[in-house]
Amino acid sequence: MGIIIKSENEITLMRQAGKIVARVLDKLTGLIKPGIKTQELDVIAEEEILRLGGIPSFKGYRSYPATLCVSINDEIVHGIPGNRVLKESDLVSLDVGAIYKGYQGDASITVGITPVSETGKRLLETTKGALAEGIRVARAGVHVGDLSNAIQSYVEKTGFYLVKEYSGHGIGANLHEDPQVPNVGVKGEGPVLYPGMTLAIEPMVNTGTWRTRIAKNMWTVLTADGGLSAHFEHTIVITKNGAEILTAL
Ligand code: MF3
Ligand code: CO
Repeated sequence: MGIIIKSENEITLMRQAGKIVARVLDKLTGLIKPGIKTQELDVIAEEEILRLGGIPSFKGYRSYPATLCVSINDEIVHGIPGNRVLKESDLVSLDVGAIYKGYQGDASITVGITPVSETGKRLLETTKGALAEGIRVARAGVHVGDLSNAIQSYVEKTGFYLVKEYSGHGIGANLHEDPQVPNVGVKGEGPVLYPGMTLAIEPMVNTGTWRTRIAKNMWTVLTADGGLSAHFEHTIVITKNGAEILTAL
């Protein structure tokens, strides 16, 4: 445990892991259409990660059974791919993790299938914006709480609700490392960021409540009120002047 500063070589490998994740998400985005089964997306994601020289990182992690998390509508995160078929107006979060030469990349996007409701569109924009806000604030010298607070302030203005019980995280040789990166917090609190720290920032935003519940499968996190949820995530490295996104195309 403890915060780990990555070497230039380690960051190079994380850039490659991140590139694999970005390519897989890009490919999957093109397949998000009514009629496709979430299990089919999972098979394609696994094939694509392996083809690009990576290893799926979620599969087997605490016995998680799949390569992807596919979380639809009121599912916040950790939706397990299966027989569910995507349909019009679904909000589909895709979460991908890949390991390249021992180093991890982790990212997620939420895609709306047309026609998306006005609330759905606003939710997607808000959640994507919240991630951008966290990344904008991330740089050497700031506290984790500054980053959390930026995300929280941004989302609170919209009237939507940030999920508080699940957080972003440090990432590197392991999927989850210190520090925790909460999506709500107080400026000036928490660990200070240094160049070479690698973080996964992942706001989850709900339309009706921050409260959650766990599905019968013991993995999937749902909104307590059945309202919609969205999730965006990037893996970044902290630099002197800001942050570099490692999971961009
Ligand atoms: N992006 C998620 C996370 O950081 C994905 C984890 S799914 C799991 O926690 F199955 F690997 F746990
Ligand atoms: Co993550």
